[in-house]
Amino acid sequence: MVRESESGLPVEPVYGPEDLAGWDPAGKLGDPGSYPFTRGVHPTMYTGRPWTMRQYAGFGTAAESNARYRQLIAHGTTGLSVAFDLPTQMGYDSDAPLAHGEVGKVGVAIDSVDDMRVLFAGIPLDRVSTSMTINAPAAVLLLLYQLVAEEQGIPADALTGTIQNDVLKEYIARGTYIFPPEPSLRLTADVFRYCRTALPRWNTISISGYHMAEAGASPVQEIAFTLADGIEYVRTAVAAGMDVDDFAPRLSFFFVARTTLLEEVAKFRAARRIWARVMREEFGARNPRSLMLRFHTQTAGVQLTAQQPEVNLVRVAVQGLAAVLGGTQSLHTNSFDEAIALPTDRSARLALRTQQVLAHETDVTATVDPFAGSYAIERMTDEVEAAAVGLMRRVEDLGGAVAAIEHGFQKGEIERNAYRIAREQDSGERVVVGVNRFRLDEEEPYEPLRVDPAIEARQTERLARLRVGRDRRTVAAALAALAKTAEGDDNVLPPMKEALRARATVGEVCDALREVWGVYVPTDVF
Ligand code: 3HC
Repeated sequence: MVRESESGLPVEPVYGPEDLAGWDPAGKLGDPGSYPFTRGVHPTMYTGRPWTMRQYAGFGTAAESNARYRQLIAHGTTGLSVAFDLPTQMGYDSDAPLAHGEVGKVGVAIDSVDDMRVLFAGIPLDRVSTSMTINAPAAVLLLLYQLVAEEQGIPADALTGTIQNDVLKEYIARGTYIFPPEPSLRLTADVFRYCRTALPRWNTISISGYHMAEAGASPVQEIAFTLADGIEYVRTAVAAGMDVDDFAPRLSFFFVARTTLLEEVAKFRAARRIWARVMREEFGARNPRSLMLRFHTQTAGVQLTAQQPEVNLVRVAVQGLAAVLGGTQSLHTNSFDEAIALPTDRSARLALRTQQVLAHETDVTATVDPFAGSYAIERMTDEVEAAAVGLMRRVEDLGGAVAAIEHGFQKGEIERNAYRIAREQDSGERVVVGVNRFRLDEEEPYEPLRVDPAIEARQTERLARLRVGRDRRTVAAALAALAKTAEGDDNVLPPMKEALRARATVGEVCDALREVWGVYVPTDVF
């Protein structure tokens, strides 16, 4: 019986030579580190350097998150990844009315350069690469990070890391947008232009499919809508007068890894091949680094269960293996208790240990792209690629990613797939161990980590002290200069940096831009 994959593609019970009849390994695969990069972006991949173990973390105040980062570094993590609380992600200060009840909850509260300084106290920023999951106000947090690095005396070309900075997927699936699409894309292009000279080793965007997958997107939808967003960003920067090879090498991506390992490996390999072809054929990119789809992976949060939470350890291990067999550059493995609450120190350490077992006890780092030439994986890679290219063409027919978003196309497609998954789980057709099969009569109690509710009051006091302790006239003048630049066409990051240096807050900077650019109002279509 032929089963269907997560993307609805047929999965044959047996594959053989006939499935690859006439198949052209040179054209389809290339060598590792060579066009079309199907086998990976580097010739040696993990035989040269293992993926970065980059655990997403952050909660409470900057001091509490700083302690968690130092713990992760002590446990062997090789990259940092900052989770910000919702007020920060939405460009509001901790004492804003809209922030009430959310301060320090799903991530760390960062209001000013003072908080950023505490967040990285004792962590040399030239010795670690830092990812920041921040989108609409990404430029603001990037500049705060740069200001702290300057205080540490670190030269700009030694600073490495990534800002997510991908607002298009926020309109589609995550919701932390602020401004309408046009000024949001202008700000994205400003970041590309600023980093090219000011922060040459910084990855300026992490074009994300993860959140669309978490919202219900299939593997094909995940890469098709993500790559379509990528094309929109490249078109925006080229239209703003930049040469594609001036910014494309610093684009990066972010995908999920599901438990369905075979299709996930095919998905990653297909995505690299599509992106390499688009960058060479549509945009004429000549620098090989412009053609490489470099990506971070996070194991699938939506597949974690609150029931029998220890079973999630197995899911995460399989999902982490899928990402590694798929050639990820950086990986976050979820903690087994994350369906219940924020990870404890112990569960966060166990998540990292999972990666260390994959990297140091298995042989998956001994050879590059071990699935190359597999009847099943190569056939599945071809089929995922063909389906994704077809879906990208539908987005293009609607006028590209932004126009499709305004039609509600991506959101509608994802919601229909999410509904299919839910129906299959409810009917038992889709097994979820511990939830609709192999259940316990009575769940065993689990004591999760709790976030101290007094954080909001403490952070609000910090803000009051900051506002009293700074030069109000300098701040006002700097914010006015930022607003004036936002009204014109010049890059907004230089005046933004001066305002932040004068200790303007995240909320004040974003309010200055809200005044000029307005805010996005979604067109809800199902
Ligand atoms: N041979 C030669 N060179 C190699 C190599 C090899 N085998 N392996 C690595 N290298 C080089 C790389 O080229 C790079 O050099 P460069 O600095 O000159 O570019 C250096 O070694 C570091 O390697 P990578 O750049 O591959 O690894 P990083 O970890 O630094 O970067 C990335 C990976 C994907 C490019 C980067 O964008 C990144 O780290 N992204 C992380 C994004 C992230 O963590 N997001 C979290 C999202 S959580 C979220 O959204 C919230 C919630 O809702 C889920």
